[in-house]
Formats: sequence, C-alpha cells, structure tokens
Amino acid sequence: MRTDPTAECPADLQPLFDPVPIGPVIAPNRFYQVPHGTGMARAHLKSLERMRTIKAEGGWGVVCTEQCDFHPTSNHLRELQLWDDTDVGKLRPVVEGIHAHGSLAGIELSHNGSHVANLDSRIPPLAPSSLPVRGVYPVTAREMTRADIADLRQWHKSAIRRAIECGFDIVYIYAGHGQTLPVHFLSPVMNQRTDEYGGSLSNRSRLLRELLEDAREVADGRAAIALRFGADTLPHMQTGGQQEAMDAITELAELPDLWDVTLTDFGKDGASSRFGSEGHEEHWARMVKARTTKPVVGVGWFTSPETMAAQVRNGTLDLVGAARASIADPHLPRKIREGALSRIRPCIGCNICIASDALAVPLTCTQNPTMGEEWRRQWHPERTPPADTKKRVLIVGGGPAGLEASRVAAERGHHVILAEAQDRLGGHVNALAQLPGLETWRRVVDWRLRELQTLPVEIALGSVIDSHTLAQADVDAIGIATGARWRRDGVGHLQRNPPANVGADRMPVLTPDQVLSGEPISGRVLVYDDDHYFMGANLALLLASKGLSVDYMTPAPVVAAYTQFTNEQQGLHQEVTERCSSVHLLHGLASVSASRVQARDVYTGQEATITCDVIVLVTGRIPAEATLAHHVSENTPTHLIGDALSPGTLAAAVHNGHLYGRHLSTNTAVASNYRREPHA
Ligand SMILES: Cc1cc2nc3c(=O)[nH]c(=O)nc-3n(C[C@H](O)[C@H](O)[C@H](O)COP(=O)(O)O)c2cc1C
Ligand code: SF4
Repeated sequence: MRTDPTAECPADLQPLFDPVPIGPVIAPNRFYQVPHGTGMARAHLKSLERMRTIKAEGGWGVVCTEQCDFHPTSNHLRELQLWDDTDVGKLRPVVEGIHAHGSLAGIELSHNGSHVANLDSRIPPLAPSSLPVRGVYPVTAREMTRADIADLRQWHKSAIRRAIECGFDIVYIYAGHGQTLPVHFLSPVMNQRTDEYGGSLSNRSRLLRELLEDAREVADGRAAIALRFGADTLPHMQTGGQQEAMDAITELAELPDLWDVTLTDFGKDGASSRFGSEGHEEHWARMVKARTTKPVVGVGWFTSPETMAAQVRNGTLDLVGAARASIADPHLPRKIREGALSRIRPCIGCNICIASDALAVPLTCTQNPTMGEEWRRQWHPERTPPADTKKRVLIVGGGPAGLEASRVAAERGHHVILAEAQDRLGGHVNALAQLPGLETWRRVVDWRLRELQTLPVEIALGSVIDSHTLAQADVDAIGIATGARWRRDGVGHLQRNPPANVGADRMPVLTPDQVLSGEPISGRVLVYDDDHYFMGANLALLLASKGLSVDYMTPAPVVAAYTQFTNEQQGLHQEVTERCSSVHLLHGLASVSASRVQARDVYTGQEATITCDVIVLVTGRIPAEATLAHHVSENTPTHLIGDALSPGTLAAAVHNGHLYGRHLSTNTAVASNYRREPHA
C-alpha cells in the first residue's frame, strides 16, 4: 500500500470519521457499505469472505452482506442462505473477517415472496394475495393464511437468532426495492386481503411492524435492527404511493435502530451514470430523517468525499451509504483518512457490477479489476507483490488496457515504456466519453494517469510502432494493447452472415469509430445495432440530438438488449423510442442499395424496405492491429492485451491489462490459473 506520511485528512472531511451509535452497537465511523449482491453468494463463500474483509481493512465502518434468504419458501437462485443451523458455520468466517479490522458486520435477511419463483425448492411462493410471480415464469404465488404468517414470523425469529450466533452486529429487515414480503403486504396493489393484514395502511403495515417487534425481542440488545426501506413510494402504486410510504415511515419511525433509505425501484436506486447523478436520493433521506430520531443511512451514487461530508453536515445523513463506491474502491475511507484523495478510484457508474451480480458471476468492476479476484487469484486492490526479476517492459497502446498493464507492471517494480500512437492517452475511452451520460467514464483514464505520475513509466506519445520497431525494441517483454475497431461488414452477435452489398459503395456505411471521430453525417440515418450494449442506442440518441432523422434497427426484441443487466434497458428503450423516427425490432439487415435497405424479420424472413441515406453499423469488433498481432519475437515474449486480444467490455479490457501487469502474460495458462471454491 503506497501512502504519503505527510498528507492528512482535510478538516472538513474529519466528521466522516466520527463514531455513530446504532442501537446497542457503535459504528467506528460513518462509512457504511450497504447490502449489495456479489454474484458470489453461497457458491463462492471464500471469495465473499475475502472481499468483505478487504472492505473492512479499507476502513468501511460497517460492512453488510447481500440479501440472504432465511427460508426455502424464499428460494433465490443464487443469494446467500441462512435457512438452518448448518448455514451458521458458513457465514461466521465472513463476520470474523470484518471484525478483524474493527468494523461492524451487517446481514440483510430477506424473504422475497412472489419476487422469486422458487424453481429450486419447488415450493409455491408466498404472497399476501395470489399473484403471478415476477418475470415470465409460469408460477403463481399462493395467498398466505394466518397460519403461514405465524410461521413466517417464527422462521424470521430463528434466522435472527442464527444471525446473532454468526456474530452479526446489525440485522436487517429488508423492505427496500419493492421485492420482499413486508413491502408486498404494504402495497394495496399486491395486497388484496380483507383480514387484519389488508385494507387500511395500518393493517397492511402490520406484518412489517410485527417483524420489527419480533426482531427487537429476539435480538434483545445483542444486535441492532436495521430497516431498509424504499422511501419514495410503495410498489406498483400509480397514485398515492408517495404519501403512503411517508405515512408508513411515520408509523414505524422509532421501531428500528437504523433506517437505511433506498428507492423502491432498484433500477432507479442503482441508476447508471446515464440516468442518475451523485447525491440523487438526498430528498428521500431527508424525508425519513425528519420523521425519526434514529440514525439514517442513505445512498445515492456517492463518489466524492465532499458530497458525502456535505450530506452529513447538512443533517441529511448520519451514515454515508455506498455500494458502488465501495466496489470501485474498497479502501476509499482509508484514503480519505490519510488525505490521499487523488488516489481514490472513483466509480464511473457503468453498472457492470450489477450486470455480473445479475448474471450470477463473481462481481466484476470496470474501475477495480481485483473485485471478485481477491481469493481465487489473491489479488488485492492496493497491493501488488514486487517482481522477483525487474524487467524492461514495452506496452504498445495507451488505452484502458495499456494504462492498467503499465500501472500494475510499474507497481511491481518493472521499468515500463508506454508507447501511444496518438498525442494523448486514453484510447477509445476518449471517444466513448463524448456519448450522452458517459462523461464519467473518463475516470477510467484519469485515475490511471494520476497513478502513473508516481510510477517509473516512460510515456512516449505520437509513437507509431510497427513490426520492425517491435523486433528491434531493447526490452524483456512486450504487451500489445492497441484496441479494436468496429466491423464494416455487418457481422454481429445475432446476424452471422454479412448482408448483401454492404460496403459496395451503394450507400455510405459508417462505423461508431467514424461517427465518434467527427466524420460528417447528413440525411436520414439508420443505426443498425447487432452489438446490443450501449453503443447503438447511444449513437442513435447522439445523432437524433443533432437534429438528424434516425431510425434504429436491431435483430433483438428490445433496444440495447444487454443493458437489461446494467439497469439501463428500460430507460434506453424509452428514449430511443421517443427520440428516433422509427424503431425496428426483431429485424436483421438483409441487403443495402442506394437510398434504402432491406430489413428481414428474424422469425418470418419477410422483408421490408427502409429508406435512408447512410447506415451506421454497430455490430461486431475486431482487434485493430492485425499485423502487430502476428508479431511474435523469438527473444522477447509478446502478448496481446485487452481488446487487442478479445474485444469486449471496458471492464474486460482493464481486467486483462491488470492480468498482464501482474504476470507479463495474458496466455490461457496464466488466465486459467485461479483457485476454485470447494462447491462452486
Ligand atoms: C452489484 C450490486 C448488487 C446489489 N445487491 C443488493 C442487495 O442484495 N440488496 C440490497 O438491498 N441492495 C442491493 N443493491 C443496491 C445497493 O445496496 C444500493 O442501494 C444501490 O446500489 C445504490 O447505492 P450506490 O449508488 O452507492 O451504489 C445492489 C447494488 C449493486 C451495485
Ligand atoms: S462496475 Fe462500474 S458502476 Fe460498478 S462499481 Fe465499478 S465502476 Fe462503479
């Protein structure tokens, strides 16, 4: 860990280090890692333990688990479980790791009701009133009887007992994000009961009240009880939801030891940089704070210490909640305490972490490539082992992968020469950051540039490297990180055959590289998206914002299909539909001729004509420097890095750069060399 002993925490940030009593326990400071999923959960417990431990080591005063099912009637496919006593021993090491650094450990107990289909346990899901479960599963949740409610309370009490046995200091009742039974009961849309648990708000809030009272009784001063609550509205209410949420908060105000304020829509709570801004939930935290004497923790894509301190100073928050800031920089509090503010690795708001959690793979982070690799590759976000033999390393290409490779290799003690053909570093991130809402993605470059200033890296801008120069380079290792370019032949993820006449000069064809480099574009534009991530939708919106008439076409059933995993699909779909002239879903590109393209329905094969003057192909990508890619020096080990090896997400490029920096290799043997969990 590199530290500057002369730096110190600025005075206006020092209140962030005040201890905060939470019921019977005391948080050592105000940095609160709120519950967040990891994609690791019960299949990757060692990884989970190591990752949470590193956050405690980095100064987060409270470190919570993700949501944790407490009974088989809530059988989330991947999340943690505390179903019976056998689970206690599995979770205890997580608590011990957190306690080892003086932090408090929190657990988010949850019962997901009709939010889950119980595909594994095959037990009919539970709901206040019979209702099809969330999603497209052909499963209907059954209405709970009074006996079921009594059982639920017992299961919950047992889970709290077990959580305390594990050593947890804070036990959650999860009623945020509209996805658990207590909020399903609160919602008059989901709760149609006519007994004492339905009807009036005080009837609908009865279950939540009982769970809170039960929790206090069982905890009996041995752990604090936290309530995570979506303060903006109740689930699925078109009108009156805001007022009812506030009334419920007023009614429950003093029951928990801590209010953890979120929004009811997870997509809005975890909004990406395109749809959210720092501190965007302040209003709701204030509304809760005004109704309770208990401490309040709130979130809102905090990235800057100043905003965090401001919300404490102005009385909105007692504890600063963060999921993504703690993922991007598990040592953020330590860096603030040490006055190393410029070393904080700020979250960019890309939501790749949310995508990996949704896809049930260990958490991936664009900014922090060590996330999810703490145990299996033994990567630490702040420590790299010194190299046994110091080498001279040439990195060709100063985009995200090249910058990360240079940074890590230099940190290990190698002497790095970073050669970049352009007159500035950053590669394709410089172009991406022009897209609406992606300005913060520049942080990937900016943070690495700051780090490089303190490391032994020679930077050579305007250096065009060819095979000849490579062969003559006086170095011990070469990494080629020259990125990728967009294909011009129309081959993409769903459409494998090139459409007829693309590139035959019948109609101008542009790639995203050309559009973003400012190539003139006029007339009616068709954006063809067979990439499905952000580029197609973002380019369509960018061009529409310049007054062009834009059609958007994709062989997928929705706009920007992959962004369903990053919480952005709904928003992008809506914007593209509203701002583009036409949206053609489920259509591939059949052929191109002057002033028109033939679109082919992916199911029926039927063709339709779209008139346009230019087509923007957002399809596949290929490594940029094919000739360099084939350079293999006999004497100098040479490896492709990032997009130059395999074009993918920004996160994948940074990760591959990190791998290279650690091993001076990206070959398959090195990449495959990681430990596996006993039960993964
Ligand atoms: C990868 C990821 C997984 C999450 N999983 C959970 C979860 O299991 N339970 C929960 O209450 N919130 C979960 N959240 C929501 C966060 O706790 C938080 O409310 C939200 O991300 C906003 O905070 P932030 O802007 O600091 O990220 C998750 C967030 C992320 C980024
Ligand atoms: S993946 Fe993106 S949004 Fe998530 S923590 Fe990392 S930088 Fe932030």
